[in-house]
Amino acid sequence: MDVFEAISQRRSIRKFEDRPVPRELIEKILHAAILAPSGKNAQPWRFIVLEGEKKDEVVDILERSVASFKEAGMQTGSAENSARIMRQSPVVILVLNPRRTTQDFKDRWEQLGCLVDTQSVGAAIQNMLLQATALGLGTLWICDVFYAQDEICRHFGTNDELLAGVAVGYPAESPPPRPRKPWQEVTTWLVG
Ligand SMILES: Cc1cc2nc3c(=O)[nH]c(=O)nc-3n(C[C@H](O)[C@H](O)[C@H](O)COP(=O)(O)O)c2cc1C
Repeated sequence: MDVFEAISQRRSIRKFEDRPVPRELIEKILHAAILAPSGKNAQPWRFIVLEGEKKDEVVDILERSVASFKEAGMQTGSAENSARIMRQSPVVILVLNPRRTTQDFKDRWEQLGCLVDTQSVGAAIQNMLLQATALGLGTLWICDVFYAQDEICRHFGTNDELLAGVAVGYPAESPPPRPRKPWQEVTTWLVG
């Protein structure tokens, strides 16, 4: 599968087969992640691979947190559904930034440095999704983990900052492509 095929075939998958993913495939996904470019080659990413009860513990934390947001009358959007998908998927890979982005910034340059890190982590996650697609696996990029960002980090006793979860498994659905604005609509092309 060439790169454009992987890019165009990838979909967000929200139903997975009840089938384990071989460890070698997860290793390939992680290898693809760390080959991403990063600002100053800082590689501002850490990964926690969760399966079985270890995964369920994190889903429990997320569900509890989403429930308390709801009890407080706050909107929780897709978070319950994302937690359900994490519960159902055989593997969830948490993606963390060891340099953190939410501290008080000394100045604008420090803030911009954090944006660089965030872009780098995004590149790593996209590599993961594309590698998984090429391996016949489905994925879902999940930022609803933000509903329990601090709680999940505390659970692992880490100071790293949780940025996303990636659910991975064999797809049990094949959704059509979701709509996109054509590139012509979102591009300004200036010549000479
Ligand atoms: C940064 C980011 C965060 C996302 N977070 C969630 C999420 O928490 N839950 C969810 O169901 N989908 C999530 N998605 C998936 C998007 O909904 C999906 O990519 C979008 O609707 C386009 O569909 P496609 O991925 O099939 O092309 C996220 C995607 C990105 C890039």
